[in-house]
Amino acid sequence: MYILCTMITMGIESSCDETSVAILRDGRVLSSLTHSQAEHAIYGGVVPEVASRAHLERIDGLAKAAMEQGGVGPKEIDLIAVTDSPGLAGALLVGVSFALGMHAAHGIPITGVNHLEGHICSLFIAQDGIDNTNVPMPFIVLLASGGHTAVYKYASFGDCELLGRTVDDAAGEAFDKVGKLLGFPYPAGRAIELEAAKAPNDSRPEITFPVARFSDPDKRYCFSFSGLKTAVKNFISKSGEHYINDNRPALCAAFQRAVVNSLVCNVEAAAAEYGIKTAAIAGGVACNGFLRSAMRKRLGGGNVICPPPSLCTDNGAMIAMAGQLMRQNNRLRFPVMDPGRGI
Ligand code: KG4
Ligand code: ZN
Repeated sequence: MYILCTMITMGIESSCDETSVAILRDGRVLSSLTHSQAEHAIYGGVVPEVASRAHLERIDGLAKAAMEQGGVGPKEIDLIAVTDSPGLAGALLVGVSFALGMHAAHGIPITGVNHLEGHICSLFIAQDGIDNTNVPMPFIVLLASGGHTAVYKYASFGDCELLGRTVDDAAGEAFDKVGKLLGFPYPAGRAIELEAAKAPNDSRPEITFPVARFSDPDKRYCFSFSGLKTAVKNFISKSGEHYINDNRPALCAAFQRAVVNSLVCNVEAAAAEYGIKTAAIAGGVACNGFLRSAMRKRLGGGNVICPPPSLCTDNGAMIAMAGQLMRQNNRLRFPVMDPGRGI
């Protein structure tokens, strides 16, 4: 359990294609504003230079609006937390430079935050009627986003053991690539989920896709999604346009089933091996309703923690929460940009 002191934190996130600033007081969101960059949709993926420029255009206005909505000025802010790794170098640079500017101009303490640790800390943000400072530990956490997919054993803040990660594509990347094959705009995760929901359960039982498994015991909690993407690609070219047009929902459902099965199997196996009852999901793919219900079905409804979708995709609130916990655990560190550093 974390004991909270009265503390106001500004969280700044700009590692990829979301510019987001939030104000948190003691783990509770006072304001959280996110701009998702639509500029990338026509390219089918994030263009780094376009992302940096778009962050630059928005960050100042978002920070001002977040302070206004949160009812705080720079004088009331106790800590600035900013994502400094991993991410796109130019995109990170915009958030870090802005945060350093606030730090220098107003003398506010600052910390760099690892984006992946930020996603996990979204679990501890208080929700209406739920005090998430009480998340039972240890728990197994699945972090599935557009850039990362991994399973961790989380014992306490700072004690987070990586059990396995993807050896190729991230789960969200697989959704986005398959979406592109099917003509959905980037990012395609939500569009695929909505399309899949139109398919009755067993409308096309002949459409199944393989789920990668590793025989090497060291990789037992690892994921691989590039073979699945190739299988979908081959299926599309083999089946022809007519069949695909008539069976798009069933195809999306089969693909989604394969990804979700792979994600849930690893969490379930890790929970069983370590004798841990509580599991959690974080990252953009955790918005997926089919993943949420599969986790609850397989691990028991009361044992699974899912943050609301607004806290699953990239946001400043999770970065502020991580910063607050870093301060409480004497782990503040000056931002050091390292686009490749994970946890
Ligand atoms: O965490 P996030 O906002 O950014 C990264 O850190 O990557 O995750 C974005 C990813 C995208 O790949 C997007 O397609 C996926 O999350 N995503 C979903 C859903 N909503 C977002 N994937 C599956 N189902 C969804 N409903
Ligand atoms: Zn993310």
